[in-house]
Amino acid sequence: MSASFPALRMRRGRSSPWMRAMLAENRLHPSDFIWPLFICEGQDCEEPIGSLPGVNRWSIDRLGAKAKEAAALGIPCIALFPNTPAGLRTERAEEALNRDNLICRAVRAIKDAVPQIGVLTDVALDPYTAHGHDGLIDELGNVVNDDTVSILVEQALVQAAAGADIVAPSDMMDGRVAAIREVLEREDYQNVAIMAYAAKYASAFYGPFREAVGSLGRLKGDKRGYQMDPANIEEALREVELDLAEGADFVMVKPGLPYLDVVARVKDAFGVPTFAYQVSGEYAMIEHAAAAGAADRNALILETLLAFKRAGATGVLTYHAVDAARLIAG
Ligand code: PBG
Repeated sequence: MSASFPALRMRRGRSSPWMRAMLAENRLHPSDFIWPLFICEGQDCEEPIGSLPGVNRWSIDRLGAKAKEAAALGIPCIALFPNTPAGLRTERAEEALNRDNLICRAVRAIKDAVPQIGVLTDVALDPYTAHGHDGLIDELGNVVNDDTVSILVEQALVQAAAGADIVAPSDMMDGRVAAIREVLEREDYQNVAIMAYAAKYASAFYGPFREAVGSLGRLKGDKRGYQMDPANIEEALREVELDLAEGADFVMVKPGLPYLDVVARVKDAFGVPTFAYQVSGEYAMIEHAAAAGAADRNALILETLLAFKRAGATGVLTYHAVDAARLIAG
């Protein structure tokens, strides 16, 4: 039994800044962050995204500078998302397999400019399909699993060949991690890691992202036939277990803040590198709350990111990565 009041006064530990610093159980570091970037065609382009104030789409010629900025701040990895031109979006997402598509050219540009930064690419078909779903659809509009997986495997291979360090299947098809791992092994990409969006929920927080990649207006129906029901957590543990058994190196929980219970359970149960995605709608909530004067922006950024660490996250994908790294550096 430990002492009780007045022998024990918990406030002693909070009585000065140095004491608080000394006793902090968790700390933020720039290496905790993965920075998602949106890419567009064109030259010298910086396109604002209406529902993501402060986030832009960048043309490939501007990406090297972005990667340098991130690397200089100590951010280890960048995640890339393309806004595929409308004319290249088709029923069967052929553009996803084009070795010179936006994403492949972007990966090469970053690797040329800043070889020491990691590059993560998203494996899913939604930036390439005319209907905005993450996979192929049948006559009834349902996303078909196995035919989609065959394309995702090719997509992952094309991204690895372009130089991606981590491929991140975000599509929630069954069996895709094993299929991707198998092809990476076979084609000599042993060091390309798989970060599985293992527990990805059908969430209302993805709206601004869909605007950013241009799938918002196209999407017919919703993604509940493949993404998880927000009611479930035992199912998340099964998904993680399966993806690990199939060969995922790291797992991800998404969205972030509303799903910290899932992050904590996954980390406790499996003890594997567990990432969380603070998604576009979460970013927008912080920016809008701060702009409305409801709270201090910098404090919201740091407090929410620290909450991920406390829950056990290994790292966080966040649109605030650069702002946060700057705030930490002081
Ligand atoms: C698509 C994908 C989505 C996000 C990452 N990859 C959207 C979706 O599933 O509809 C969301 C990220 C964000 O909202 O920031 N496969």
